[in-house]
Amino acid sequence: MIQVQGLTKRYGDKVAVEDLSFVVQPGRVTGFLGPNGAGKSTTMRLILGLDAPTRGSATVNGKPYRRHVAPLREVGALLEARSVHPGRSAYHHLLAIAQTGGIARSRVDEVVDLVGLGQVVRRRAGRFSLGMGQRLGIAAALLGDPRTVILDEPVNGLDTEGIRWIRSLLRELAAEGRTVFVSSHLMNEMALTAQHLIVIGRGRLIADTGVADFVARAGGGVVRVRSTDPEELAARLRSPSVAVSPGEGGALTVSGLSTDEVGRIAGAAGIIALGRAKSGAVVGVLVSITTIPAASNVGVALAMGTLSEAGKSLVILLVNLAGLLAGGVLTLLGTRVWARRIEKGRAIFRPKSSPRP
Ligand SMILES: Nc1ncnc2c1ncn2[C@@H]1O[C@H](COP(=O)(O)OP(=O)(O)OP(=O)(O)O)[C@@H](O)[C@H]1O
Ligand SMILES: [Mg+2]
Repeated sequence: MIQVQGLTKRYGDKVAVEDLSFVVQPGRVTGFLGPNGAGKSTTMRLILGLDAPTRGSATVNGKPYRRHVAPLREVGALLEARSVHPGRSAYHHLLAIAQTGGIARSRVDEVVDLVGLGQVVRRRAGRFSLGMGQRLGIAAALLGDPRTVILDEPVNGLDTEGIRWIRSLLRELAAEGRTVFVSSHLMNEMALTAQHLIVIGRGRLIADTGVADFVARAGGGVVRVRSTDPEELAARLRSPSVAVSPGEGGALTVSGLSTDEVGRIAGAAGIIALGRAKSGAVVGVLVSITTIPAASNVGVALAMGTLSEAGKSLVILLVNLAGLLAGGVLTLLGTRVWARRIEKGRAIFRPKSSPRP
């Protein structure tokens, strides 16, 4: 079991992890999900005692990592797969770790078989492909037959077969009663691999929940929005339970809110937003229209549950075309033109950042 309590880490005035508290239970795969820079690796380093927290604490199986007498048997970790002496063979890399940890030589052969590196184990690790390096890192993590396994983005660089392999390996380790804590920035991957999720954003806890619950909640609430003022809209939408990340071409990806809710917030703020919900299949389309300032703000959400498949496809096509058109027109006009129009009372929105001409 991993227990994290009030964990905070600052680098100068940069806050990497902020007051994070959660428990990783044994017997299930716990995914540690968050966008790039969210603080996943930092949290893992703090759990492993590789970095000192500014505040708070982290324990593994009841003690700080450093206080364990035989740490390799308590925790196996893969943080940086490339931390291997490039001239050493994979076998000797593993043997060196085993010998420093008082682990039998026979265990090296076991983990080599477990990760499928039997054919290449005598080759220099420095020549390994990314995927082979990942497998070697996992072999090293499993050497001590640890009760707790911590892996930082283990699927990075793996091919489809490798990803499938890692999924089943993690599930097997958890089924044996181990604590399995694995980070990723890919929601889809975590939905397939993990049973429980700890989600962070900007160093803070966003959710600590079962995967099924999270997906169900996000199902109506992963919304892609294109807007005239993405920064302002993002600021209005963000909350501890809502994650907003920038997507392609100034679009926003919002999780934790439905299309209706995004429309209502955008409408109330006087921001034009055009978006659609996405959870595998498109489930709804949202058009938020804001009319003359001080007049009514209208958020229109088209619930498409009652439409036929053909009807849905048509609506999606039309809205996509409208989105493309609107995006193009708004980009062409630019914020200054819009701001000027506001002064003349004709505008339908005004980005906060642009100065009044
Ligand atoms: N040693 C350091 N010095 C200064 N800032 C750091 C240091 N380590 C991490 N950070 C900052 O802390 C934040 C969190 O970084 P971290 O690597 O933990 O994120 P992450 O969730 O692992 O991201 P990724 O998905 O890209 O691996 C980032 O903004 C990063 O720049
Ligand atoms: Mg990281």
